[in-house]
Formats: sequence, C-alpha cells, structure tokens
Amino acid sequence: MTDSTRRAATTRNYLMCRPDYFTVTYAINPWMNPYEPVDTDRAISQWERLRQVFASLGHTVRTIDPVEGLPDMVFAANGATVINGKVLGARFRYPERQPEGAAYLSWFGHAGYPVTREPATVNEGEGDIVFAGRAILAGYGFRSDKAAAAELTELFGVPVISLRLVDPRYYHLDTALTVLDADTAAYYPAAFDDAGRAALASYFTELIEAKDEDAEVLGLNAISDGRHVVLPQQATGLMVQLRAAGFEPIGVDMSELRKAGGGPKCCTLELR
Ligand code: ARG
Repeated sequence: MTDSTRRAATTRNYLMCRPDYFTVTYAINPWMNPYEPVDTDRAISQWERLRQVFASLGHTVRTIDPVEGLPDMVFAANGATVINGKVLGARFRYPERQPEGAAYLSWFGHAGYPVTREPATVNEGEGDIVFAGRAILAGYGFRSDKAAAAELTELFGVPVISLRLVDPRYYHLDTALTVLDADTAAYYPAAFDDAGRAALASYFTELIEAKDEDAEVLGLNAISDGRHVVLPQQATGLMVQLRAAGFEPIGVDMSELRKAGGGPKCCTLELR
C-alpha cells in the first residue's frame, strides 16, 4: 500500500452559514481589528468557493439563515456540537455572539434532531470541542470553560481529554489542531502546555507538527474527510507535510474571513 492509497475518504454532512452580514465591528480575539476594512462580497465569494469544494468532494452541505447584526454567525463551527445525532448547544463567552446560541439550537429543533440540549457551561461548539473518534478533545483557556467536559461526557458518553490553550492567537482549539483521521492529527505545539502536548502524543499514533508560518495563516483550521484536507491555501508548508503523509490537501482562500480570526473549519459544522 502506498502512502496515497492508505487514506480513505468518507462522505460528510456539514452545516454552513452564508456571510451575508459578515463584518468586523468588535474585537474578541487578536485577529480582529474593527478599523481595518472588510469586503463582505469578497467574504461571500470565498465562502461560496468553500461550499463548492465540499460539494465536489461529495459532501452534503446544509445552510442556516444568517441573522443581521450577528457578523460572526458565519463561523458555524461555533454553533453547536453534534455527535451521533445528539446536539449540545453553544454558550458563547462574549455578549456579542451570545444570541447565536439560540439561533443554531432552533435550527436543529426545526431540522428534526430529537436530542437538543441547552448548555449549562460556556462552550463554543466545535471551535473548542473536537470529536476524534474514541474521545472528545476539549480546548479551554480563552473561550470554552474547562467544566464543559462533564456535560460532554454525560451527553455523548465519550471520554474527554481537556487541553489548555496558551497562546491568545490560537484562542479556539480548531485554530491549533486538526484531526485528520482516527489516528492522525496536525497541530501547533506552541499553542498547548506540556500536559496537552503529552496527552496528544499518547492519543494519536501520528502527529504532524505545523510550523509557525503555517499556523500564522490559520493553516490548522482545516477539515479532513479522511483523505482530502481543505485548508487555507497560504499554508504551503503544511500542504507539503500533508501530502507526504498520504493526504490530499486542497487549498482555499479565506483571507477575508481571517480578518475575524476564522478559516475554512470555522465556517463548517459537522453534522454527525
Ligand atoms: N470572530 C470569531 C470569534 O472570535 C471567530 C470564530 C472562529 N471560529 C472558530 N471555530 N475558530 O469568536
């Protein structure tokens, strides 16, 4: 078996939110600068391209209607956590994004999901809660509360590995780590503490270490279907590493959405 045949894709279901009202009017992470102009039309075309890439890979994309006045709602990954059809709603740290929690939870109610749970602790959905197959990786330190772990185990019945994030530029776990398949992940070591690095090393059999310059273009904000990895096209070094490990990297330009600290994974919520 060669490297390029050992990686197998499975089709996925994603939820996305068109950035019709995207802009940067507040700053809740170090990437956001309300004084830097944002081109909403450009953000929309970058987002449309991402949606097309998913469709071309055979994935199903559903959409939630954007709400005027919620410019970060495009970052669907933060809207909830969905595992085995069960939905844990999001509870946002900052007031600017708090109304998004109810908007997403109501979408799941209308879509017929039988188990939709209101969260008791602050958790920013798949931004910090990453399902890795045998366990949930839960980032904390900037946004989600460490205490969200108990709620996650109780609802989903899966062990939780808590990971402290230590660099404010990598404020959500999905900006510093991407799960590529059940045994493989790519991550930025400097975004974690010693305990976190050790936990990741013992969980995954293969760990790809991203370089500074790839992390700094949010290269780890990527989505894998087991074979294809959709990531920011500026992360050229990481693309080489992924190819060497048998994956097929697909670059997309999310530069406009990066002005809010987001990339392709932030725009994508997996419906499991
Ligand atoms: N401006 C948004 C925030 O700071 C960006 C969210 C990015 N989402 C993500 N899953 N990392 O909340």
